[in-house]
Amino acid sequence: MTDTVTLSAFLTQQLFISSPSADIELIRLLEAVARSCVRISAGLRQGALAGILGSLETENVQGETQKKLDVIANQIMLDELDQSGTVAGMASEEMEDPVLASGRSGPYLIFFDPLDGSSNIDVNVSVGTIFSIVRAPQAAELAETRSWLQPGRMQVAAGYAIYGPSTQLVLTLGHGVQAFTLDVLTGCFVLTAPRLQIPPTTSEFAINVSNQRFWDESVHSYIQDLLQGSSGPRGKHYNMRWVASMVADVHRILTRGGVFLYPVDARIKEQGGKLRLMYEANPMSWLVEQAGGRASTGQSAILDVVPQGLHQRVPVILGSCEEVENLIQRYCSDGF
Ligand code: AHG
Ligand code: MN
Ligand code: MN
Repeated sequence: MTDTVTLSAFLTQQLFISSPSADIELIRLLEAVARSCVRISAGLRQGALAGILGSLETENVQGETQKKLDVIANQIMLDELDQSGTVAGMASEEMEDPVLASGRSGPYLIFFDPLDGSSNIDVNVSVGTIFSIVRAPQAAELAETRSWLQPGRMQVAAGYAIYGPSTQLVLTLGHGVQAFTLDVLTGCFVLTAPRLQIPPTTSEFAINVSNQRFWDESVHSYIQDLLQGSSGPRGKHYNMRWVASMVADVHRILTRGGVFLYPVDARIKEQGGKLRLMYEANPMSWLVEQAGGRASTGQSAILDVVPQGLHQRVPVILGSCEEVENLIQRYCSDGF
């Protein structure tokens, strides 16, 4: 039997293998993220028994109806992260304004989507928690939201927890992507996949086809080619999956390849896309690049987008290189 490597042991090893981003505060911060995810996972498992399913009367800053669990998960994250003393501030998809550390201020900022895919909670389908960590600016600059707006390339750690048949934590510190599985008997995350890799080719795609009538010409022609299967220009049959939890769709791609698209379309043009740059697109894009895949808005790498606002939305095309490049080519030829 091989040795069990817990998340804590793995993170401690990073200190010794010249991981430029790993320091003791980052490790403590990631342990706090992991504790939050264990607590959120436990709440989700109780589901209806704990009376935590269903919606609230409130809307979040994005104008979306909040689920009870969105608010509970957000509070769990805030409490654990603040108590860790490793962050100067925290920003969440569920809060209009970022929050500064109430006690000891640490050297990091964290951005998170406490519960991704929350429309799936009440139907008992996988949901997740996504996070992105960057170095904090000087204390004097923290009051200015502008100082929080760093491009995705500045991330020092990013990842997500997926609450599926098992709970997994998938992480990058800039040295590949590792997956840990929660051992429910010990409450510890154990390393179960030391290096996730996205194959460059695939025959599986993920897009919400109900938006087809709003798509631009590039997305339209790309999906048309896939749908023509072996008799079309791509010469093979493509399968389609859409969970409507980005975490679950990206997890599938990190596990067996595929391409995920939430492009900007006529319906959401003014807001710039559906998915949020700081809480969803940046962390997922870094994971995908670290696993050998590609992540683009169609015009540029998502990680190079200079954020203009905390709650900014962007088009997202990510996954197996061959597919992402095929769609980027169409955007280039269509003159975007
Ligand atoms: P959230 O639950 O955090 O608001 O995110 C939902 C996102 C993402 O997880 C998913 O890929 C997408 O919204 C689904 O959108 P549609 O319902 O438009 O398919
Ligand atoms: Mn989300
Ligand atoms: Mn969410």
